[in-house]
Amino acid sequence: MPDSQMHLAAFITAGPGRPGGWRYPGSVPGWLSARYYQDIARTLEDARFDLAFFADILSVPDRFGGSTDSQLRNGALGSMRIDPLHVLSSMGAVTSHLGLAATVSTTYAQPFTVARSFASLDHLTDGRAAWNVVTSFQESEARNFNLDEQFSRNQRYERADEFLEVAGKLWDSWEDDALVLDTETPLFADPDRVHAINHAGEWFTVQGPLNVPRPPQGYPVVIQAGASTKGKDFAARWSDVIFCSHASLESAKDFYTEIKERATAHGRDPGSIKILPSIAPVVGATHAIAQQTFDALFELVPPLGGLSTLAYHLDVDLSTFPLDERLPDVEVPGVEGHYREVREITERDGLTLRELGKQYGGRAEGGFIGTATEVADGLEHWFTEGACDGFMVQAPYQPGGFEDFTRTVVPELQKRGLFRDEYEGNTLRENLGLPRPEPGEWANRISTQKAVQ
Ligand SMILES: Cc1cc2nc3c(=O)[nH]c(=O)nc-3n(C[C@H](O)[C@H](O)[C@H](O)COP(=O)(O)O)c2cc1C
Repeated sequence: MPDSQMHLAAFITAGPGRPGGWRYPGSVPGWLSARYYQDIARTLEDARFDLAFFADILSVPDRFGGSTDSQLRNGALGSMRIDPLHVLSSMGAVTSHLGLAATVSTTYAQPFTVARSFASLDHLTDGRAAWNVVTSFQESEARNFNLDEQFSRNQRYERADEFLEVAGKLWDSWEDDALVLDTETPLFADPDRVHAINHAGEWFTVQGPLNVPRPPQGYPVVIQAGASTKGKDFAARWSDVIFCSHASLESAKDFYTEIKERATAHGRDPGSIKILPSIAPVVGATHAIAQQTFDALFELVPPLGGLSTLAYHLDVDLSTFPLDERLPDVEVPGVEGHYREVREITERDGLTLRELGKQYGGRAEGGFIGTATEVADGLEHWFTEGACDGFMVQAPYQPGGFEDFTRTVVPELQKRGLFRDEYEGNTLRENLGLPRPEPGEWANRISTQKAVQ
């Protein structure tokens, strides 16, 4: 059963983010300051957002012309990113209910370190941690981790499967009541309730146990955004939350139906996976004001900034194609979902590559531009049409875009009974309506997966 109310996540960039957004007069360039993120966290929590999410990348992309220039010069999406886990700790310190999600790559990290980081964050925030599991898709990332080229997509997802299996075993390595703290006996932690995991697999050999007790949420909330067949299957098996991006309501509905079917095939309750498409709404006091804001933002997008980000998302060197012609069909090693989206836009609007760059950098994903009532109408339509369980909201410029949305659109959604007035619980799982996993639950999921494969 879909939830009767939508879930809202905020897509925050620990760097300039949308090309053009950082040049907008209302934008504050506070990306290197803890206070900047803490102010955004308070804004989101006051509006009862489910969670704040940080994307991440482990390189400055050089996919456009083999150089980082177009990223750096234009303040494009990959030009600068600070470590999201540190940002989340600072946000957690000034909030009490907001979920806190960071992206960490299974391709370039080790399960022990990641399981430990998220268990620690979950304890420090009383159960609000979430991990966006990515497999990474840039050659430039591989080159920062002792490799000349990246593993194939299949290898990356195989490694990711085993990575999650090990992480689950580590989180379960302390039974829930293992920390006894009996000062008389003394019995700090009960050795009979803390277990080595002795994992020996294809990619990882990990003895365990973890040196952090089982997280308050059991396992942190797992987020994924796979778009390839392999990626969607991985997401349907492991995720509590799925992020996606779509150029139309129709493609969002198809994706939603497909993922819920895949989840069912893996023996999971389809309602236990929340699908949140990424949107970039622009809201104003009147439709004309919202359109003016969008136009002003769009004007500031340098076509090469957008193309540089698209080249990095597709992992295709777009500098080799003529700027004033349409992008031909290309083989896409990177994000197939973004490619589907740009093919849809190119064909629908007949765009040249230059125009596509501007459009990709400045598009209002989902097309929600207007008054709070109009934007809420659009969100309600997607939600009730069965295209999603809520949204991941990007701000067209930071932090003002979040303030506009929370001050105007959220009350409109609340008035319609489509969004909560108060948090339902304390942990992120409780607010997402997800049960706390029993120890060993992932072990069952692994054996179910193996049976389905
Ligand atoms: C909304 C959204 C956010 C994403 N954030 C990241 C990210 O921060 N880091 C990253 O490496 N990949 C990110 N991705 C890419 C996905 O993790 C995934 O690799 C991509 O959608 C391609 O799917 P595939 O791996 O199945 O080919 C994101 C994708 C979407 C749709």
